[in-house]
Parts: sequence; structure tokens; C-alpha cells
Amino acid sequence: MNLEQTAALIAHRRSIKPIDMDPEREITSELWDTLFECANWAPNHGHTEPWRFIIYSGDARSEMASALQHAYKTDTPPGEFRPDKHEKMGLNPLYSHSIVAIIMKRGDNPKIPAIEEIEAVACAVQNFHLAAASTGLGVFWSSPAVGYGHTFAQSLELTEGEQCLGVLYVGYPKEGKPWPTGSRRPAAAKITFK
Ligand SMILES: Cc1cc2nc3c(=O)[nH]c(=O)nc-3n(C[C@H](O)[C@H](O)[C@H](O)COP(=O)(O)O)c2cc1C
Repeated sequence: MNLEQTAALIAHRRSIKPIDMDPEREITSELWDTLFECANWAPNHGHTEPWRFIIYSGDARSEMASALQHAYKTDTPPGEFRPDKHEKMGLNPLYSHSIVAIIMKRGDNPKIPAIEEIEAVACAVQNFHLAAASTGLGVFWSSPAVGYGHTFAQSLELTEGEQCLGVLYVGYPKEGKPWPTGSRRPAAAKITFK
């Protein structure tokens, strides 16, 4: 283990927009296995391991596109409906190689608050994202408001106690697309040592 490399990977991880992804460049099954293995090592309270993932690749991406568009059309008040947003929801899944629905499955231990299950799933996503970044694979966490709703949950065939926390677009950046640079305000401004 090397702190310098770990810190460098964390700072290197970026969100890659679906439109900048190459949908044709394959992701090996070995890599998928490793990414989900990394996700599976996330910390969690009470051994609930509440993360679940549904992967839409190939033709199934259209299923995801339809689910997003249907939820947006159904759940958006008419005055707020934006045709451009609706269109983008239909296109983004096709720009990426795969879309991963992020699901939190509530454990049956009532002592573990729902927020902690959500936090654990976010840790799993971060593990996935970091591992992907280390191989040059792009990931983008998208959380449209309708993604939290009942209509979308129905399309994903979620069951009692399961909640969608958004979707991950996954794909290698298009050839020639530089890996984006990021920025953060200084960490020191967010820390108080006592
Ligand atoms: C829980 C969560 C939900 C997010 N949802 C969206 C989203 O709906 N739309 C979006 O543009 N970015 C979304 N993002 C990605 C952020 O925009 C992105 O992480 C941020 O711009 C920082 O860029 P970086 O990931 O390259 O450091 C989300 C990130 C998180 C952690």
C-alpha cells in the first residue's frame, strides 16, 4: 500500500459525461467483476451490505432510456416539463457503454437507520468509481429527481425496501478526449482540529 498513489488516484477520479464516452469500446467481464468486488468492500453498519446494482448493456440500454423518459414524462408537472431534458434522458444511455442502476436495499435490522444504508451505498459507488478511474474507465453518477420516484422504481421492478439512488453511466472516454481536470476548494477550510 502506498499513500502517495492512493491520494493521487483519489484526486485523479473524475466524472466523465456520457456524451464523451465511447459506447463501442468493450469492458471486459474480468473488469466488471473487479469493479463490483471493489464496490462490495464498502463499509456498512451492521453487516447489511445494502448495495445492489442492475447493469444495462447493449440493447438493454434502450430499456433504461425508456424507463427514464417514462418516469420524467409521468412524474414531472406539465409546467416544468422540458423537452430537451426528456430527449437527453433518451440519448445519454446510448452514449455510454452501460448504465448501472444504483439500488439501496434496506436491511431488516431496525437499529440501522435508512440514512446509514444510503451512506454505505455511496461508499460502494465511490469504490467502484475509484477502481474504474484507475483503469481509465469513465463513470458518471446521475441522479435525476424522477430517479427517486415510484414510476422509475416500478420500471426497475424494485421490491419493498429497495430504493434507486440514481444511475451510473459507464464507458471509456472517446479517443482523443482528454481526462478532465478537477478542482476543489482547499480542504483546510472545511476542517477544524480541536
Ligand atoms: C450523489 C451524487 C449525485 C450526482 N448527480 C449528478 C447529476 O444528477 N447531474 C450531474 O451533472 N452530476 C451529478 N453528480 C456528479 C457531480 O456533478 C460531479 O461529481 C461533480 O461535478 C464533481 O466532478 P468530479 O466527479 O469529476 O470530481 C452527482 C454526484 C453525486 C455524488
